[in-house]
Amino acid sequence: MDVVVVGSCNTDLSSYVSRLPLRGETLTGTRFETGFGGKGANQCVAAAKLGAKTALVGKLGEDVFGVQYLSNLLSNNINCEHVQSLKTASTGVASIFVGNDGTTFLKSLCSNCIVIVPGANNLLSVDDVNQAEALISSSKLVVCQNEIPQETTLAALKLAKKCGVKTIFNPAPADKDLDLELFSLPDFFCANETEASLLLNQEVSDVESAKKACHQLIESKGCNTVIITLGEKGVVYQTRINLEVEHIPATPVTAIDTTGAGDSFIGSLAYYMTNMEQLPLSKMIDRAGQIAAISVQKPGTQKSFPLASELPLGLLSS
Ligand code: RIB
Ligand code: NA
Repeated sequence: MDVVVVGSCNTDLSSYVSRLPLRGETLTGTRFETGFGGKGANQCVAAAKLGAKTALVGKLGEDVFGVQYLSNLLSNNINCEHVQSLKTASTGVASIFVGNDGTTFLKSLCSNCIVIVPGANNLLSVDDVNQAEALISSSKLVVCQNEIPQETTLAALKLAKKCGVKTIFNPAPADKDLDLELFSLPDFFCANETEASLLLNQEVSDVESAKKACHQLIESKGCNTVIITLGEKGVVYQTRINLEVEHIPATPVTAIDTTGAGDSFIGSLAYYMTNMEQLPLSKMIDRAGQIAAISVQKPGTQKSFPLASELPLGLLSS
């Protein structure tokens, strides 16, 4: 196994609107679509579509959404031995409004806002992680996010560490009360500007402030390698052993739906870390950013993530 994701599955209910509604306002949208989402599954599917051998540890409800979700995971070749369906909970749902301001990723005006009801995701437990020990110990990389109980994520990161398996933690969605161990346990702490701002209680919005944030996350929060994504401004990263903070610029593209772009980035990074281990981290980050830029040019989350066969050859060469 290359990548094991311990994380969430949501059915995304996406409404496309000309702008986001104001408080108390009823707005008529232009288009509606259901899709497979949830940050955990998104990252797993992103890696699987590129060809990584993946497994998901997750929970669904025994409802229409859950049944469809399981077949979606299986059709993406994801190992689902540790995906359970529960009678007692609903499949997670995310109501998403995509403001189609007719604008570009470059100008960063294509916006979305999301309400999540976690349902079964909230029942993913420490016990479920322990039952997946054989799977986790046989993998190269464990990836976690912040859409399941924190104690479960902690258990997954600790188990991976005990087994000598590398880890990525993506503290999304942002939560300012993140357990301190979640900073120091993972090998890679990968956040966007919103998450970094909230976690450090200071504005992180451009390359300079992100460089400062990397430094603080390492020095005062105990992170190992920090990666901060800045959308159209690219990515900034720093490792504990190299004091130099690196900036990798992004390719400007016209975005139509940025939902799940961060997940595309992390899933792609997971692919490179497990399938092209010889690439320097800077190249992995650069390529993962290029793949995320491809995903924002198509609507939806998982279905906008490219297959290996759809990538420009340069992204797959060693
Ligand atoms: O990161 C995007 C995801 O966040 C969506 O798929 C939605 O389900 C929410 O979890
Ligand atoms: Na997209």
